[in-house]
Amino acid sequence: MSNIYAVILAAGQGTRMKSKLYKVLHPVCGKPMVQHVVDTLASMQVHDSVVVVGHGADLVRQTLGERVQYAFQDKQLGTGHATKQAAPILSEKEGTTLLLYGDVPLLSAETLTSLLSYHHGQEAAVTVLTATMEDPTGYGRIVRSEAGEVLRIVEQKDASAEERAIQEINTGIYCFDNAKLWNALEQVTNNNAQGEYYITDVVGILREAGEKVTAFVAADPDETMGVNDRVQLSMAEAYMRKRINEKHMRNGVTIIDPASTYIEADVVIGNDTVLQPNTILRGTTAIGSDCVLGPQADLTNVTVADGVKIQYSVLTDSAVEQSATVGPFAYVRPDSHIGPNVKIGDFVELKNAKIGQGSKVPHLSYIGDAEIGENVNIGCGTISVNYDGAKKHKTIVGDNAFIGCNSNLVAPVEIGKNAYVAAGSTITKNVPEDALGIARERQENKLGYAARLPRKGK
Ligand code: UD1
Ligand code: CA
Repeated sequence: MSNIYAVILAAGQGTRMKSKLYKVLHPVCGKPMVQHVVDTLASMQVHDSVVVVGHGADLVRQTLGERVQYAFQDKQLGTGHATKQAAPILSEKEGTTLLLYGDVPLLSAETLTSLLSYHHGQEAAVTVLTATMEDPTGYGRIVRSEAGEVLRIVEQKDASAEERAIQEINTGIYCFDNAKLWNALEQVTNNNAQGEYYITDVVGILREAGEKVTAFVAADPDETMGVNDRVQLSMAEAYMRKRINEKHMRNGVTIIDPASTYIEADVVIGNDTVLQPNTILRGTTAIGSDCVLGPQADLTNVTVADGVKIQYSVLTDSAVEQSATVGPFAYVRPDSHIGPNVKIGDFVELKNAKIGQGSKVPHLSYIGDAEIGENVNIGCGTISVNYDGAKKHKTIVGDNAFIGCNSNLVAPVEIGKNAYVAAGSTITKNVPEDALGIARERQENKLGYAARLPRKGK
């Protein structure tokens, strides 16, 4: 098969989004739309991919990195003009060019592969991916002859009432014979309602020149939807979310309530894990097998090993080892490492804290900038006093230590192995191994004193 090239148009501002953020960078299930398109292409045998950038060029480049080449469109004079900017990179090559829009994020590699093989089978100059939409408003319409041949594409704004009634729409995805594309583009004018150079005109131009023009109808019209405004963005999000949830369920993940489960595009989940309602898994989060997450687990970039339970908790940029339990109501902030069989209980906040195997932080604690050894018990209400107003300091607690309730560990401070800290202590000096650290006023009982105190009703 000849070489495949791809051009992705991503230079528009996206006026209809009414946003400071450029349209193609708006995320769908946590990933910018244009990145979905590039990732889909990455799973195919594409020789060169050229992204046409303009508005927000630097940000788009930053988002996509070095995996693609870039062409720059200085002024947004239309999709035909945008495509033309890729000519210096592609026009001398031989093969087939896929043209895609950066605002059509749901398209699957399967559909693109079917489109390519149909195009090659037809030996066409261009094949347009079309779809039948119940409501075609806003899309370009496919005008066919009585015999059913594709004649041209007409934009909504240029269409007659009769043409607007056509339900077969242009998805904005095309396969071109590369050489014929660049030749035809030379003939595109901006003589239309929007004063733009339309790529869609190439279809009619090739047809007039006697070239073979075909269309391939997408099996699933939803997959080809373009996102122009926030209503369509939410529709794309819902579609993608359903697709992601179903993929995980087919891989052996139980999702109790898919309607309230939000999993971003790049999340990985092992089988026999159960997701309870209102679970949100974001970014590069990777979950092992046999876990129970939720209700209400919100994880961003968290690595979770097998057999972990997390409920009603928020975790970010951290790791949780095998069979640990977290929550309810824990807040795990970046760079925390929760070891195997650890218990992080209710109303516990961790930040940059390493908790060793089998240790317990069961209730009402703040552990920040700390290294807690193995089998340590951190009593209720323990606070690592890590901040002196200017700098953060470290707390170290050795293996098997026991920290009594309501203790303050004023960092920098180290509690030795097997040591005890008496409840209510404010520890400002290191406690050696096997020692008991106690730092509080001794209690005094004043006998009979109660009678001298005022009390209601007496
Ligand atoms: C376009 C098609 C329409 C199709 C629809 C499918 C044209 C003229 N119309 O309309 O037939 O049904 O997509 O979703 O092609 N862009 C540039 N530079 C420009 C203009 C646009 O890079 O000068 C990029 C945009 O960033 C966007 C894509 O091209 O990613 C499509 O542009 P948009 O303005 O959204 O076209 P539609 O009106 O949706
Ligand atoms: Ca569009």
